[in-house]
Amino acid sequence: MTTYHFPPNFLWGAATASYQIEGAWNADGKGESIWDRFCHTPGKIEDGSNGDVACDHYHRYGDDIALMSSLGLQAYRFSVSWPRVLPSGRGKVNPAGLDFYDSLVDRLLEANILPFLTLYHWDLPQALHETGDWMNRDQCAAFADYAALMVKRLGDRVKYWATFNEPASMFYLGYMNGIHAPGNQDPLGAPQVAHHLMVAHGKAIQAMRAIEPDLQVGIVLDQWSIEPASENPADIAAAEQAWGERTMFLDVLFKGHYPPQLYDYLGDNLPKIQSGDMALISQKLDFFGLNTYSRNVISAQDGYIKPVPGSEYTEMDWEVCAPAMRRLLNRLNREYRLPPIYITENGAAFKDVVSPDSKIHDERRLDYLRQHFIQTRLAMQDGVDVRGYFVWSLLDNFEWSFGYTRRFGIVHIDFNTQHRTIKDSGEWYSRVIACNAVSSDDGQESR
Ligand code: GCO
Repeated sequence: MTTYHFPPNFLWGAATASYQIEGAWNADGKGESIWDRFCHTPGKIEDGSNGDVACDHYHRYGDDIALMSSLGLQAYRFSVSWPRVLPSGRGKVNPAGLDFYDSLVDRLLEANILPFLTLYHWDLPQALHETGDWMNRDQCAAFADYAALMVKRLGDRVKYWATFNEPASMFYLGYMNGIHAPGNQDPLGAPQVAHHLMVAHGKAIQAMRAIEPDLQVGIVLDQWSIEPASENPADIAAAEQAWGERTMFLDVLFKGHYPPQLYDYLGDNLPKIQSGDMALISQKLDFFGLNTYSRNVISAQDGYIKPVPGSEYTEMDWEVCAPAMRRLLNRLNREYRLPPIYITENGAAFKDVVSPDSKIHDERRLDYLRQHFIQTRLAMQDGVDVRGYFVWSLLDNFEWSFGYTRRFGIVHIDFNTQHRTIKDSGEWYSRVIACNAVSSDDGQESR
């Protein structure tokens, strides 16, 4: 057995997102979001469900913070629902919405849990969708105003601010193939959306820093390792091409230009870029948030290889391959001049069973997390500057187009009663946090 110790100020947390947990979709003056509209449209969500109630976190956040405390979480990554605070996306503020986040933050701080806030985890106000969605460049200014509003209210207490969560997921799922809200299948428009998200990011960073220069500001990107099926040069070239297409946000943010492979991929369909955009987008950030879950294996002949023979898969049909996380971190560290990294999401969906003892013995999730913590620690020893880790997710929740059919929580939710039960993985995680170390064998983490 080997024990991997983490540096003393390493930050251990868990993550959630507003639409996935809050519920209260139309309570206290909240406006409609594109996810409300999308889920209320029949046929969009696998189990026909929606986030109307979700984990009812809007009403139960006190209990949820108590759960976080009992787990010993040091940080909590959550997102703000833009239409909860600005029902039409701009203009008139909803005081009850702001009060909710204000009190969430105060309660977290009372519990000694660091709030790590994301401004946009996909729930665009429906009103802004109706004025052109992200195709309309005016939304970038609206986003910066929203960011400023939030910093004015919470910037005295919240230090860590991320602008967007996973622009690549929005690009592919929301605007290219329409699996996510707003359900656009618009390969011609999507590159412009992607560029506007980046402009909005840049404007928001400026707006936030103008109000509170000492904030830690950053962005959260999803990136998986992309690996060739063999050492064959054709497979390597195919994997490199895919990597280039998938790193457009990393490149534009941290190199100041889009990757050349993207131009091959988009052909003539390039976004309109105004002068000054690239400098605005690639401003220096204080941290980089990485969401990573798996890897993609590519061969020249067959494209994406799935299943990879001999590999284990999660309920999302994602390969479990923790060593790929170490390789990914090293590659990102080699190829980009990144600020300190936080793993802002990592975790796994597996079928959970409530046992006769009323517990959830989720060994596979526990083992997934163990392996990924270890590989992250190894990457840190290789020289990658990782400062913290947020497990996805604190709670079982609404998993987008899959509805409630995929459970990622370290806390189980009975969606009929809203009863919460800490899973074995959660109990184990709390021991990892308490000793700031992870062991290669079961049950060895002890206080
Ligand atoms: C995303 C989001 C999360 C997901 C998680 C599991 O990556 O899609 O950030 O909201 O729930 O990644 O799919």
